[in-house]
Amino acid sequence: MSIEHVKEPAGNAIRQAYARLIGRGQSTYTPTEIVVKKAKGVYLWTVDGRKLIDFTSGVLVSNLGYAHPRFEERCKKYRKGLPRNAYNMLTELQAQATQRLLKTMASPRLQKALWAASGSEGVQKAMWTALHRYPSRNILVATRYGFHGKKGLAADVTGESSANPDVRFISFPMHEERPQAFFENELADLWTAHRDQIALLITEPYLGAAGSFHPPKWYHQLLQEWCHSHDIPFIFDEVQSCFGRTGHMFAYQTYEVEPDLVVLGKGLANGEPAAVVVGRADLIDALDYGEASDTFSGSTMACAAVCAALDVFEEEEVVKHVQKVSEHCRAGFRGLQREYPFIRAIRGEGLVFGVEIDTPQRANQCVLQAYYGTHKKGVHFLGPLAKKVLRVSPPLVITKKELDEAFEVLHTAWKLVG
Ligand SMILES: Cc1ncc(COP(=O)(O)O)c(C=O)c1O
Repeated sequence: MSIEHVKEPAGNAIRQAYARLIGRGQSTYTPTEIVVKKAKGVYLWTVDGRKLIDFTSGVLVSNLGYAHPRFEERCKKYRKGLPRNAYNMLTELQAQATQRLLKTMASPRLQKALWAASGSEGVQKAMWTALHRYPSRNILVATRYGFHGKKGLAADVTGESSANPDVRFISFPMHEERPQAFFENELADLWTAHRDQIALLITEPYLGAAGSFHPPKWYHQLLQEWCHSHDIPFIFDEVQSCFGRTGHMFAYQTYEVEPDLVVLGKGLANGEPAAVVVGRADLIDALDYGEASDTFSGSTMACAAVCAALDVFEEEEVVKHVQKVSEHCRAGFRGLQREYPFIRAIRGEGLVFGVEIDTPQRANQCVLQAYYGTHKKGVHFLGPLAKKVLRVSPPLVITKKELDEAFEVLHTAWKLVG
């Protein structure tokens, strides 16, 4: 059975076709199942003529919005004449994309790269580098309630428990206010228990999927210090936070750390499938020919898109723009909170916020009523995170005027949330 919306004949027909033809395991649940016909800037249009302001960036991917003229033009320019995919061929473009990334990242430990085709593959490759570099170590340390992907080692270090007996989870600051000493003690105990067996520590800058929990800077700095003092590779999973999301080009700049490996994905190529691990040369070089190869990693299209995205970030000062509109976005939700006390908390930074609603049922209603909107104009949200947290991650190019337009819709639309 597919989701149906009244007065959406075209959308309902496509939803039914999906239910018949495509396994539902492919998507995560959204109460709207939006059927998109066109996308431009920060707007999406459905097949039934609804216009929506996108508060998702397609799950933090289309950070520059849709059909961005400079991005599209540069993509074409960079890949001109090249095959779309160049597996096991070398191109000047891939060298150029990598060099530009390293230059933009400008962090002493980020020296070399390994491309991947998805975030979870990138995480897997990052972890492999550490395991190959230190073959006698088997313990994988991860921060609890993180999300690193659904496959392989990335899945093993996701969440709060693991089928992999080598994984150890440590606490990440969430609701409870714990003193720094609590986290220090946990790390000290871990070292006492496992000493030279620890192969890596992986964390996310902020917990995204767990409901948007953004830690104090000292937390990541503490993890880094512990890793560096014991020669343990410190892996920062920036699959969703990279390329401007937190108000800096990279979240390690926001949190003022220098990881040994950083995994980038999602917004890295503004919609082309691309991910990359960037890190210490001795780690990256621990993998020999073929040990991290796969058909689509570092495709021509991906590398062209990365170069095009970097052009736009530089020429249009996208990060500066995020810093300018960030507080405007938070203030918009604060305004809604005054009117709708079912909004329990607003957490976030840059242009990534979690808006916590009091119950899962009401959170789903918020998503639905935002979609129905007013006069065929709505706001597009994903299904709630951790059951009741609305993820707010509009394209980074959204203007204050467009944000105001969205908040105006929400002020009216959420009157119908019971
Ligand atoms: C922090 C983080 N790491 C890894 C992943 C996995 O990326 P992918 O879905 O491209 O495999 C995600 C995806 O949401 C993510 O948010």
